[in-house]
Order: sequence, then C-alpha cells, then structure tokens
Amino acid sequence: MAQSALSGPWFGRKRAPVIVSGMFAVTAARISPQDPLAGLRLGDHPDPSPPDSSWVTVTVKAASLNHHDVWTLRGVGISADRLPIVLGCDAAGVDADGNEVIVHAVIGDAAGHGGDETLDPRRSLLSERYDGTFADKVAVPRRNLVPKPASLSFAEAACLPTAYLTAYRMLFAKSGLEPGATVLVQGAGGGVATALILLGRAGGFRVWVTSRSEEKRARALELGADQVFESGSRLPERVDVVMETVGEATWSHSLKALRPGGRIVIAGATSGAAPPAELNRVFFLQLSVVGTTMGSRDQLARLATFLEQTGVRPRIDRRLPLTEAEAGFAAMISGDIFGKVVFTR
Ligand SMILES: NC(=O)c1ccc[n+]([C@@H]2O[C@H](COP(=O)([O-])OP(=O)(O)OC[C@H]3O[C@@H](n4cnc5c(N)ncnc54)[C@H](OP(=O)(O)O)[C@@H]3O)[C@@H](O)[C@H]2O)c1
Repeated sequence: MAQSALSGPWFGRKRAPVIVSGMFAVTAARISPQDPLAGLRLGDHPDPSPPDSSWVTVTVKAASLNHHDVWTLRGVGISADRLPIVLGCDAAGVDADGNEVIVHAVIGDAAGHGGDETLDPRRSLLSERYDGTFADKVAVPRRNLVPKPASLSFAEAACLPTAYLTAYRMLFAKSGLEPGATVLVQGAGGGVATALILLGRAGGFRVWVTSRSEEKRARALELGADQVFESGSRLPERVDVVMETVGEATWSHSLKALRPGGRIVIAGATSGAAPPAELNRVFFLQLSVVGTTMGSRDQLARLATFLEQTGVRPRIDRRLPLTEAEAGFAAMISGDIFGKVVFTR
C-alpha cells in the first residue's frame, strides 16, 4: 500500500493521510518492436483485483524473467489495447494463509481439456490478459498455486513456472525418449536451454549442446552437458531428438542433426519463425516435428518434486531487486546471460 506524497503532515494540521491503494510494479506501457525497453515502466500500479472468489492474491517474494516479457514489449502475442499490463509470468511467494507457493502461469480451464489447461483455446499466460508477477502482489485462480518445497529458495522456485516447466515437458512428455538417448539442445545460455541441460542430465540423457559463444559452451560443460559444439557445426553422429527454441538460425541444422525417425521438439523461435521447412528431409527421413507450450499445473507440481528428489537447482545468472528490473531486461535482449534472471522483493 503506497502513501500519497500529498498526505504528509505539512499539508494542513490534523489532516488524515490519503492512502492510495497501489503497489510497485514493472509494466509494459507501450509497444515498441525495435526498442522494447522504451515501453518499460517502473512505478505505482493499482493493487490486484481478483475477478471472483475462486482467485487469491499472492505476495511475491521472487519473480523470474522470460523471453516472453521481451516479446510483450515488442508487441508479439499482445495488442496495445491490453496495456498497461504488469509483466512477468513466473513467481514464488506467500499466500494469504502464509503458505509458501509457486505460481502456475497458465490461466485456463483444465477440466474440459483432459487436465491440461494449455490445450484450452482460451487460455492465457499471466501478463497476457491478467496482470503478471513483476509486482508486490499478483492475483491468480487458487488452483494455480503449487506448494513450494521448503528445500527450494524463493528465487529458485521462481524459475520453475515457464522455462523449467517447458523444458520438463519437452524432455519427459514430448520427446518420446528413454534414458540413455542423445538429445541435442540448440543454444546454451537461455533460461530454457540451461533448464534442458540440467533436467536432461538428471533424467539420464546424453546431452549435447550448441552455442554461438565459446564461453557459454564452456559453461554448458560445467553445467553437465556431455559435449558442446559451435552453432551449426557438424556433429560426430546423429541424435535421437533436438530441443529447438532458437528457430530460423538453427532449424536447418536441427533437421540435419537427426537420425532417421528422429524428432524435433519445438517450444520457441527466438531468431525467427519462418525457416525453409525442408519437407523433403522431413518425409524422406520420417522425422517428427512436435510443438509444445508450457505445461500443466500437475506437471509443475511434479517438476518441483523432481528437483527435490534429484537435488537439481535452477541455474540463476543474476538476482536483482525488482526496482532494477531494466538491467535484467537489457541483459536478456543483448543475449548476455547464462541461466535465469531473478527479481526479488
Ligand atoms: N512455448 C513455450 O511455452 C515457451 C516457454 C518458454 C520459452 N519459450 C520461447 O523459447 C525461446 C527461449 O526462451 P528463453 O526464455 O530461454 O530465452 P533466452 O533466455 O533469451 O534464451 C535465448 C536462447 O536462444 C539462443 N539463441 C538466440 N539467438 C540465437 C541465434 N541467432 N543462433 C543460435 N542461438 C541463438 C541462445 O543461445 P546462446 O546465447 O547460447 O548461443 C539462448 O540459449 C523464446 O523464444 C521463448 O519465447 C517458449
């Protein structure tokens, strides 16, 4: 709750303080495809107003940055009439009863879609239709709260709902792989890429990784990658599955890297979404292309248990106070990260 600057004692004697109902938040105020930071605003924002009694308010302790937040500022996946909107898909915090929780980012109907709200055609992610997590408080349906394991810090738990959940589903639900298979991860430094390395290794896969940067390739090895390669370079043998989030810049290499009958699991297209499809290669080698988005609330709960069981912890590149969020956005836009950027309150 912020107190208005006009409410100080110097404005008339015995005047009751004027309390403005508001909180600190990081919002997308306008869309700028070429200069995403131009639309970023830090400051007061109204408190969350839950739409009905099935929603609850969570006090945010930590929130993590995703490329999704940069896309929003660029106007991808959102229209100007939704602005201003609080950014942020991911958070960990405390609910009104004092429980430590992880906030599931997908707002949708699971019951009508086999328990998977990502298949609800009307689903949205936090910060698309409803205010997101880069704020003191966030409102979500009660169902979207997942208990935070005590062994995970708030910062670690805040990495899970988007990047780690996406990587978990790519590896364990969409790849069709058995432990021991070889996975190629395109890109090393991103939130999803580092999650794929950590979770893939813990799941018993042989994890190969590409990166444009020699330094990031070295760090990928430290994180658990079995072999690393310069982006686009020839591999010693073909792989079972490619994990693709880069898109245009790596698509052709991903197709060439696969053994006959292999599979690409695709969750993103950071460098562009319209590469040549190379259909001849797809049918001649009987390749599968499988799309995936986020994960279900139940998968998020299992991911939290997976981290508890394996001892794996998210790779955090840097922690910043939410008031310094702009520096985190700038690092992600420049590609100067290895792991997750976490904002704390
Ligand atoms: N479908 C979903 O539910 C879902 C969920 C999460 C993320 N995503 C999408 O997945 C993508 C990655 O998200 P993120 O949060 O991990 O983003 P990020 O942290 O910004 O990561 C970007 C990654 O892309 C690689 N990269 C970027 N440009 C490249 C290029 N020209 N050539 C080769 N590699 C390049 C980087 O690799 P190096 O710097 O190591 O080379 C890095 O690993 C985004 O497009 C995001 O929107 C989708």
